[in-house]
Amino acid sequence: MATASASPGRLCPVTYRTRAATIAKLAPLHAHSVFIVGGLYGNLQALDAIEALAAHEVAMGLPQPQLVVNGDFHWFDAEPQWFADVQRRVSAHAASLGNVEAELIDPQPGAGCGCAYPASTPDQTVAWSNAIIARLQEAARRADDLVSGLRGLPPQRRLQVGDCRIGVVHGDPDSLAGWGLELDAMPPVGHSDPRLEQWFREADVDLLASSHTCRCFAQGFPGDRAVFNNGSAGMPDFKDDSRVMITRVARHAAVLPDDHASACRTRVRDAYIDAILVPWDREAFLQRFDRVWPPGSPAMLSYRRRITDGPDHHANAACRVSQ
Ligand SMILES: [Fe+2]
Repeated sequence: MATASASPGRLCPVTYRTRAATIAKLAPLHAHSVFIVGGLYGNLQALDAIEALAAHEVAMGLPQPQLVVNGDFHWFDAEPQWFADVQRRVSAHAASLGNVEAELIDPQPGAGCGCAYPASTPDQTVAWSNAIIARLQEAARRADDLVSGLRGLPPQRRLQVGDCRIGVVHGDPDSLAGWGLELDAMPPVGHSDPRLEQWFREADVDLLASSHTCRCFAQGFPGDRAVFNNGSAGMPDFKDDSRVMITRVARHAAVLPDDHASACRTRVRDAYIDAILVPWDREAFLQRFDRVWPPGSPAMLSYRRRITDGPDHHANAACRVSQ
């Protein structure tokens, strides 16, 4: 929640407040297979690759996956045509809000990027993100009819795959920009904690799927439940691995092309759940990125190295389920 002392990029606007109990009341979107795509960050080459994986599953005789794009699908696309392309492509899928879209629809005074960054995030990173959202808001203003398409998007979704009930959020069940489903917030493997128990109970779900924190992990909990945070579907998720990550939940086991991989896999009820690493055309993305974000620009300074090298994060730290 916002506090008087919080600065732009660190505070969490009160309009971001959500409730786990709301998820329990939502009509579920039923599917045989869903790809949960959090944090696309304007990366259309990644979306190409994710859609190609969906087409691959169909070609393999599996049901058509439903893509659920759970927020922060805009970010690097701070150029009107790029913004329009992202908006058009994402609107073909089931989308929900992230803090980025919230700050495009209705910028909150002093919110900056609306990221609600914790104290562990350096001030410089926060400042760069605030500069990025300012440029993105300017691009969005020049494409105003498209921003209106964001207004009806929900902040949360409820899905059901077989018997597996799924709550999809951007940050955590209490806030669009919450950090309660960050890796550091998790209890030791094999344990749960009161806040997670409250979220699972009030949302009435077996799986919570999130992103926002940009650091992927998956963890199982007693009682056949799990949290999957896909980190980012628009930037690499592990060191020296250029692939992006999505969360796949399906009635059928994944049949992946050779250059894809499941970084973490579990079962919840009758569903197969995978953190899937998807290769994509990074060079094509960087051509557009570098035109919009040249040397010295905030996105170049803050994110380009992550895009080329990956974050300091590894699969053995991210996979916390019994397989
Ligand atoms: Fe976010």
